[in-house]
Amino acid sequence: MERRTFAQLTGTALAGSLLTNNVLASALAPAKKKRVAMVGTGHRGLGMWGVEVLKEHGDRLEFVGLCDINPGRVATGKKMLGVKCPTYTNFDKMMRETKPDILIVTTVDDTHNEFIVKGLEYGADIVTEKPMTTDEKKCQQILDVEQRTGKKVKVTFNYRYSPHRQKIYELLRSGVIGNVTSADFHWYLDVHHGADYFRRWHRLREHSGSLLVHKATHHFDLLNWWLESDPEEVYANGQLNFYGKNNSFRHTHCRPCPHKDKCAFYWDMTQDKRLMAIYADNEKYDGYLRDGCVWKKTSTSSTRWPCKSSTPTRCR
Ligand SMILES: NC(=O)c1ccc[n+]([C@@H]2O[C@H](COP(=O)([O-])OP(=O)(O)OC[C@H]3O[C@@H](n4cnc5c(N)ncnc54)[C@H](O)[C@@H]3O)[C@@H](O)[C@H]2O)c1
Repeated sequence: MERRTFAQLTGTALAGSLLTNNVLASALAPAKKKRVAMVGTGHRGLGMWGVEVLKEHGDRLEFVGLCDINPGRVATGKKMLGVKCPTYTNFDKMMRETKPDILIVTTVDDTHNEFIVKGLEYGADIVTEKPMTTDEKKCQQILDVEQRTGKKVKVTFNYRYSPHRQKIYELLRSGVIGNVTSADFHWYLDVHHGADYFRRWHRLREHSGSLLVHKATHHFDLLNWWLESDPEEVYANGQLNFYGKNNSFRHTHCRPCPHKDKCAFYWDMTQDKRLMAIYADNEKYDGYLRDGCVWKKTSTSSTRWPCKSSTPTRCR
C-alpha cells in the first residue's frame, strides 16, 4: 500500500465510523512487500536496480532471487546487495522456485526479449532496462505476450528524469511555444563517453542492435515523450570512422596492454574496486573483459554469448 493511501485510510477510519474494523485492521497491517527477482547482475543491475532501489524502497520490496550466467558475478552481486535470497545461473529454475511479482531485466540487450517473454509467462510484471529489445520481431513478440498474459512491461528510460528534460516536457505541455509542427534533434557524444561503447559487447550489432538502437533509443524516446508522438517511419545511416579498425595499434584489453603509455583511451580499471569485484574477479568464468580494447577490429563476435571459445578473451 502507498504511504498516502495508508494515511488517508487510517485518517478516515480514526475520524469517523465509515470504515469497519476489518478495513482498519488491514490498513494498519504492514504492507506486503513486493517479491522482486533480477536477471543480469552487472554494473547496472547491481547499482541502479540493486543498491539504489533497496536504499529508496527497501521497506516495500524484497529480492527473492538473483540470476546471472556468470556464477561468480551473481555471488558477488548478492554480497554487494547484502541480501539473503538464493542465486541462480538457471533462469527458469529461479522463476519456478521464487515466483516473483516483478522481474528486473538487466542483461545484455539482445537477451532481454527471452527473459521478458518468459517472465511474463511465469506471471511476473517486468521492469526492463532500455532498449526493450534489439529488433522488430522480438519487439512484436513481447507486445503479443504482454497482451496475452495481461502482465505489464515497463521500459526504464532514465533520460526522462533529469530536471532539464522534465522542464522541456512541462514547457511543451504549457503551450508556451504553441503547436509544434517540426522538430530538429541532435545529440553529440564526445569520443570519451563514446569509448565505453567500444570496450565490450555494445560495439557488436548482434548484442546491442548497433548503437543506433542501444544508445539512440534514449533519444527517440525523449522525442516521442516530449511530442506525444509515435514514429511512422525511421531510418538511419552510420559508419565506423573512429575506434575499431581506425588505429595502428591494439591489444585485447587495457590492463596488460603494451601500448598504454601512448593510447588516449587507456583505462585503468584497477582504480575502481567495485568494477574489479564485479568483472575482473569473475573473468575466469566467461572471459568477459570490462576494459576491452576500443581498437579491436572485429565488428561481429566469432561466437554467441556465452563464450564457448577455448580462448575466451577472443569472444568480445
Ligand atoms: N539506462 C541507461 O542509461 C543504462 C546504462 C547502462 C546500462 N543500461 C542497460 O542495462 C543493461 C545491463 O548493462 P550493464 O552495463 O550492466 O551490462 P553488463 O554486461 O555489465 O551486465 C550484464 C550482465 O548480464 C549477464 N548476462 C548476459 N547474458 C545473460 C544470460 N543469457 N543469462 C543471464 N545473465 C546474462 C552478464 O553476465 C552480465 O553480468 C543493458 O541492457 C544496458 O543497455 C542502461
